[in-house]
Amino acid sequence: MIDVVFSVDVDFKSANVLVLVADETGKNFVSEKLKMFFGAEISKCISDECEELAYGKIKNFNIVIDGKMKNIIIAGAGNQNKFSRSSFEKLGGYIFSQIKSSEAEVRVFSNCESANNEPLMAYLVSGMMLKNWTFDKYKSDKVPAKLKKIECKTGYIQVNKDIFDKLINIIDGVHTVRRMVTEPANVMDPDKVLEEAKALKKFGIKITVLDKKDMEKQGMNALLGVSKGSDKPAYVIAMEYKSDESKPSIALVGKGLTFDSGGLCLKPAKGMGEMKGDMTGAAVVIGTLKTLALQQAKVNVVGVVGVVENMISGNAQKPGDVVVAMSGKTIEVDNTDAEGRLVLADVLWYAKQKYAPEIVIDFATLTGAIQVALGHEFAGLFSNSDRLCDNLQKSAATVGEKLWRLPLHDSYEDDIKSDIADIKNVGSGRGAGSITAALFLKHFIDPDTKWAHIDIAATEWDSKDRALSQKGATGFGVRLMDDFICNICSKNGSRK
Ligand code: BES
Ligand code: MN
Ligand code: ZN
Repeated sequence: MIDVVFSVDVDFKSANVLVLVADETGKNFVSEKLKMFFGAEISKCISDECEELAYGKIKNFNIVIDGKMKNIIIAGAGNQNKFSRSSFEKLGGYIFSQIKSSEAEVRVFSNCESANNEPLMAYLVSGMMLKNWTFDKYKSDKVPAKLKKIECKTGYIQVNKDIFDKLINIIDGVHTVRRMVTEPANVMDPDKVLEEAKALKKFGIKITVLDKKDMEKQGMNALLGVSKGSDKPAYVIAMEYKSDESKPSIALVGKGLTFDSGGLCLKPAKGMGEMKGDMTGAAVVIGTLKTLALQQAKVNVVGVVGVVENMISGNAQKPGDVVVAMSGKTIEVDNTDAEGRLVLADVLWYAKQKYAPEIVIDFATLTGAIQVALGHEFAGLFSNSDRLCDNLQKSAATVGEKLWRLPLHDSYEDDIKSDIADIKNVGSGRGAGSITAALFLKHFIDPDTKWAHIDIAATEWDSKDRALSQKGATGFGVRLMDDFICNICSKNGSRK
């Protein structure tokens, strides 16, 4: 655990790592402070190098004072008018990349605090803590974390403390997602996901589990078909966190494929291992509920996840099979690798029948095609409600988890027409794979329910470091949902 302290009185002279965060006009601030702490000579040397402090520019110096090595990091915060939660969180991430292997204590000083009382230091530290996550559980040689304390000088202690107390719960949720996604599929199997969900009980979340028998009773044959080739159980898990039932009721639905081999339409060996992360949607739902409950948010949310393994065996579902979904619609399973939409078909329908939410948002690593369309920066957004999209975009801008809306247009419907059943689970054409997947889901949505589908197949994982995460699992979605549920949905009062 890193101890975070906000204080007016920080001893900089004795700091081993000193971070100076300066806006683009901050050259004088940097030189003054360094002069005050370490004398004119050092100040001149360093500040001469800080001519322009554009946003995101980091300068890293090592100096020796009285025989002791000190690390001085100067970080450019850019233009005051562009300061935001997102810009400071990212900056915190960039700074953390420089200090992660350094000393136990870091002290932060800035000239950025503005009259509008924004808790910029809290955001900065939040970014550092988001970036501070690695997974070495299976490494024999573990590198112990050195960083123990971050001390920030601020004239706005209370506002920074209050926000940071909230942010720390969000960070916990994000880290939960990353851990669940990074665990291999032989560990994070359906029973383990169930255990993770049950661990939420202690935060006041009510857990309901449907096992195979229950699902058979409900007629969830689309989901059960996917599970047929696996020796592991399948579950639908509902998690209710209803601390204020006057608030709009929101259902978060998650795709929880603990492994997606493709089924009989087997995936190629290269990259198949990444399919341990095909349960990210479920992890985002679990992580979000944890975040909400930890901060005792006054909201009305149910999370429903379908947890299944897509495998091969003599009993596996076959291409050409026809299943009757819980809704009564018949589906031709043209491709066993388009399994996520089969699972979600029943989970979305069940969530609506059982909980009658006003808003449904699903998270799914649904299509490889979303990476072709949007790369790793934007998640795909599909929705039947312009207003819901606008509101989600507000949160996306606030937290920097970007969404791009794609068409959910009837003109693509022909692509999923089946000769034998009501619909089939893949498009006949070659293009628009993410759109036809979303259109398939729409068949299981009541048109009066405001619904958004977020395809996170390319944003959940990156082979490169990102501003707020190391390469690997990103935890994309928790911060978005926290802001949407706590700040947009609950506060604007309108149910439209
Ligand atoms: N889980 C995959 C999608 C995916 C791909 C997630 C890459 C993360 C990274 C999904 O179940 C899948 O296999 N989709 C197929 C659909 C196709 C058969 C229509 C795909 O994208 O190839
Ligand atoms: Mn698949
Ligand atoms: Zn999948």
